[in-house]
Amino acid sequence: MSTLIVENPCQLQGTVNISCAKNAILPIIAASLLSEDKCILEDIATLEDVKVMVEVVNSLGAEVRMSNDNVLEIAAYNITSTETSYELIRKMRASFLIMGPMLARFGKIRISLPGGCAIGSRPIDLHLKGFAAMGANITLGHGYIEAHADKLKGNSIYLDFPSVGATENIMMAACLAEGMTIIENAAEEPEIVDLSNFLSKMGAVIKGAGTDTIRIEGVKYLKGTTHTAIPDRIEAGTFMMAAAATRGDVLIDGVVPEHVKPITAKLKEMGAEVYEFEKAIRVKATGRLQSVDIKTMPYPGFPTDMQSPMMSAMCVSKGTSVVTETVFENRFMHISELKLMGAKIKVDGRSAIVEGVEKLSGAKVKATDLRAGAALLISALCAEGPTEISEVYHIDRGYINIEKKMRKLGAKINRQD
Ligand code: UD1
Repeated sequence: MSTLIVENPCQLQGTVNISCAKNAILPIIAASLLSEDKCILEDIATLEDVKVMVEVVNSLGAEVRMSNDNVLEIAAYNITSTETSYELIRKMRASFLIMGPMLARFGKIRISLPGGCAIGSRPIDLHLKGFAAMGANITLGHGYIEAHADKLKGNSIYLDFPSVGATENIMMAACLAEGMTIIENAAEEPEIVDLSNFLSKMGAVIKGAGTDTIRIEGVKYLKGTTHTAIPDRIEAGTFMMAAAATRGDVLIDGVVPEHVKPITAKLKEMGAEVYEFEKAIRVKATGRLQSVDIKTMPYPGFPTDMQSPMMSAMCVSKGTSVVTETVFENRFMHISELKLMGAKIKVDGRSAIVEGVEKLSGAKVKATDLRAGAALLISALCAEGPTEISEVYHIDRGYINIEKKMRKLGAKINRQD
């Protein structure tokens, strides 16, 4: 298993290019199953999670071709199976997003309960309630879900929580359902808008994506299309945080500034300079950051995926910061690792109180999940002495060429396989 070794503290300097968004590509690959025509996805980041999603659609019979210039072609004209392997679905929670497309196009699916990062119980009840409201017959047993529907029917679906995955899954199913589906209290994340744009290019009729009410008028057939997903706002946010925490000066290129507004606002509050351009953001910090409080919320609130990278910046800031995690109930696993590096953090229920210290010290730490790994990397860049981060596969799920990108900004970082 790979390890990342960060030698010394450094001030990140230079330009980094942001890749396309993992959380946009994954549902879009699933959505390709809605058509028997070929879908072409350009500028794909070949992340570990993307490879898993490709394996999932391939295991159902979709033909998949990945070219050297990062173009992914998916042709789902010859789907041979409506059953997914337990191993693949358990590997990654987002693989559950094939349920809506399969149910809508083929009327049945047998799928195991999803896995993914260990950041809470992460139920799928909202997805299932949505499909049931559209007329699907759902049974659960032995770790599997079986669903049947001769023809899904549009309905009004109110989500108890604006779940990103449930909004996407129901939206995809609704595209081929009979009549109108209205999703209320829908998630408003930019990735939902990107999925809606992709589906609309396929011929779907969708209104309101990006607001809390999405209306989808079902159609009989969806055609193939070509698409480039939006830039990864969490990768961009991670580099923004790394630039500020290391007191560096980094131009984060290929980002939609609007998508990272909550991060920009908090970094400014901490005393960093943030300059917005049309498709880039520059983050510069000349001294120690100030403490700040954050509360994670669905978009456009502060993203839960940025909570742990932000905590790393707080660890070396002046004063006491408070982090309140409201989206996932078990997303503080990075804290015990950060403490090994000398961070002063106390947990009180869903809040963490971070008392900033002047310096962190390098240590042997473990990436416990994807964003926890990103947080450790930022802390390692601020620490005196070498830091060894194990279980790097978590980081590779969501960051492409992370050490190359960091090295280009001056970090002394190496991977040991
Ligand atoms: C997506 C993102 C993930 C991000 C999260 C929140 C992808 C591939 N992943 O995950 O990076 O951290 O959004 O922004 O896009 N919930 C239920 N019942 C459900 C579904 C969700 O109770 O049926 C709860 C979850 O347990 C969690 C909250 O809703 O507490 C948010 O989950 P959700 O928005 O669904 O996250 P994901 O789609 O899994």
